[in-house]
Amino acid sequence: MLTPGLNEEYSVYLDNAATSFPKPEQVYEAVLRTMRDVGASPGRGGYHRSLEAGRILFQAREAAADFFSISDSSRIIFTQNATEALNLALQGTLVAGDHVVTTSMEHNSLLRPLYALRNKGVELSIVPVASDGVVDVEDIRRVVRVNTRMIAVSHVSNVCGAIQPIRQLAELCREIGVLFLVDAAQSAGYLPIDVEHGAIDLLAVPGHKGLLGPAGTGLLYAASHVPLRPVIQGGTGSHSTAEEQPQVMPEGFEAGTHNLPGIAGLHAGIEFIRARGLSAVYQHEFNLLNQAEQALRDISGVTVYGPSNNSERCAVLSFTASGVDSALLAAELDHGFDIAVRAGLHCAPLAHRMLGTLPGGTVRLSPGWSTTSEEIAFFSDAVVQCISKIRKSA
Ligand SMILES: Cc1ncc(COP(=O)(O)O)c(C=O)c1O
Repeated sequence: MLTPGLNEEYSVYLDNAATSFPKPEQVYEAVLRTMRDVGASPGRGGYHRSLEAGRILFQAREAAADFFSISDSSRIIFTQNATEALNLALQGTLVAGDHVVTTSMEHNSLLRPLYALRNKGVELSIVPVASDGVVDVEDIRRVVRVNTRMIAVSHVSNVCGAIQPIRQLAELCREIGVLFLVDAAQSAGYLPIDVEHGAIDLLAVPGHKGLLGPAGTGLLYAASHVPLRPVIQGGTGSHSTAEEQPQVMPEGFEAGTHNLPGIAGLHAGIEFIRARGLSAVYQHEFNLLNQAEQALRDISGVTVYGPSNNSERCAVLSFTASGVDSALLAAELDHGFDIAVRAGLHCAPLAHRMLGTLPGGTVRLSPGWSTTSEEIAFFSDAVVQCISKIRKSA
């Protein structure tokens, strides 16, 4: 039986929305094997180590393509995280005079590149969402203009876990002939994403969250009809006499040395999820979030944000306790119980304006593949104790 209290044997990590931890053993092994036994850079030499590195890179690309139902793996560009993928998707397609529509639920990794583009003449509409965090497709339709070039949304909110209606948004994009960019930072590895049937033109994915790869991994999928421009210039191992960056997929968009150990680890993470089954991963997450939500709602003065129905939520749960500072509660959980949760704005300030949780933000928990029901029970008990301690000392 687990007892709350500082216990060196027992540390609970509930911040998988930031980055997943722990990784499956296979991921650590793939990273180590690639660093120690292969060592070379792909596409940079004709010797056998470099060829083996090229094979590892290709196989990881194929696995990622298969995972998201992408028929041509060369449309996948490896990046170092979702932020880089989003920057490439936005800066590599939009020009002054274009109009983009997004929502008030977005992460700064989507908003800040858009603000920077706005300073260069790109027009931006940010559509407010309902109090459950879900955007109304008709609200998006209402702001579309003749020069609208793209609709860009996150699949799942990293603040309250609300799942956006990406199927209907994709249909709208097809109907009006604009690009559809999906930020899958909180959905990849949890929800099924069928890129081609789902009519997604650009998909930004972190490798280090739900896909269980190492930090420093991510990818961007760009459909063949997307006229993507590289935003980083440099060596590609091919077309070496060209002065201009070759716009060849994928290497023209992956200038410089790859994070091959990371990419090998990402491949192992994808295989791990595939072997477990995406629906089993989702169900596990759903059960834990359900358990946490019920326990939190039983605590007096606690408010849980986002969809009231947990089937409309994925990956994360945010809450506040009346009279309790979120940062202090997270610190108490860490210091008193060795429980890692995140407090604050979670890099999504507009979402908090909508939820009414400015300036302190919320406490966010995000369980992962290895989180257990006992850990959620331990967390819930710890929250009760921390809230009571903070309220008493106020
Ligand atoms: C919705 C959303 N988009 C983008 C990002 C950025 O992801 P990365 O840390 O891989 O750059 C995050 C990270 O938390 C996120 O939650």
